[in-house]
Amino acid sequence: MTEPDPATVRHCLTQGEFAVDGRVLPASNVTLVGQVELDGLSLRCVYKPVRGERPLWDFPSGTLAGREVAAYEVSELAGWHVVPVTVMVDGPFGPGMLQQWIDVVGDDVVDVVPEGDVPAGWRHVLDAYDGAEQPVSLVHSDSQGLRDVALFDAVVNNADRKAGHVLVSGDGRVRGCDHGLTFHTDEKLRTVLWGWAGEPLGDRDRECLHRLDEELSRPPVADTLCRLLDTAEVARLRYRVHRLLSRGRFPRPPDGWRAIPWPIF
Ligand SMILES: Nc1ncnc2c1ncn2[C@@H]1O[C@H](COP(=O)(O)OP(=O)(O)O)[C@@H](O)[C@H]1O
Ligand SMILES: [Mg+2]
Repeated sequence: MTEPDPATVRHCLTQGEFAVDGRVLPASNVTLVGQVELDGLSLRCVYKPVRGERPLWDFPSGTLAGREVAAYEVSELAGWHVVPVTVMVDGPFGPGMLQQWIDVVGDDVVDVVPEGDVPAGWRHVLDAYDGAEQPVSLVHSDSQGLRDVALFDAVVNNADRKAGHVLVSGDGRVRGCDHGLTFHTDEKLRTVLWGWAGEPLGDRDRECLHRLDEELSRPPVADTLCRLLDTAEVARLRYRVHRLLSRGRFPRPPDGWRAIPWPIF
């Protein structure tokens, strides 16, 4: 089934009636699924109530839903469109985020292969030993869509880009989910998408970053983000955009720091 256009999805998520019919397991937080209905349109959604958030040592309590919505806004402002429509709602278990569900039917874009066996058109991330002590390589595809996700992650400072948080729909479009661990003011980029580390930015990368920078300088945009994040986090977001543009390269993983999420999938 083709997806309705994003404006219709957003309208339906904000104005529609949402009913829970299941829970996603395993998940770190209370992650519920259900249908939102409006004017004969029915859409599958993920709902994460704030009160179902698991407390974390490094992120303030009750802030993950706002981070997920801010991640969606940033992806739209830059023109990446790599996050399913995500809005704040007052749902059946109180305030939380409501996100469009994406049917994942596309091929995997992150994989583990025998060491050094990088498929054509894929990028190498790292070598390691698997559970059976066999040498393997972590690899991911070299598509524009996945590259957009990787740059988006660097901008939002995503601390949890697992392979399972990359969603590929039937049309081959690549999007991401689970953006609760984002926008921290400390450097926390932790991702399986390091295949472009240190590479020069391309024209599209720079265009998206410039567009985002321009949008972030507009007071209404900054106000919207400051309602979802704290002001220091919004300032640091702008700083990361400037730093990427001035370095002109994808970030590299810092030495001596575990920059790969666990588990990987
Ligand atoms: N919008 C979505 N569309 C499709 N699948 C999703 C979506 N959001 C989450 N999922 C699936 O549900 C799993 C758990 O959701 P996630 O956002 O990772 O929850 P948690 O914050 O509890 O880790 C994801 O790994 C993914 O497989
Ligand atoms: Mg998750």
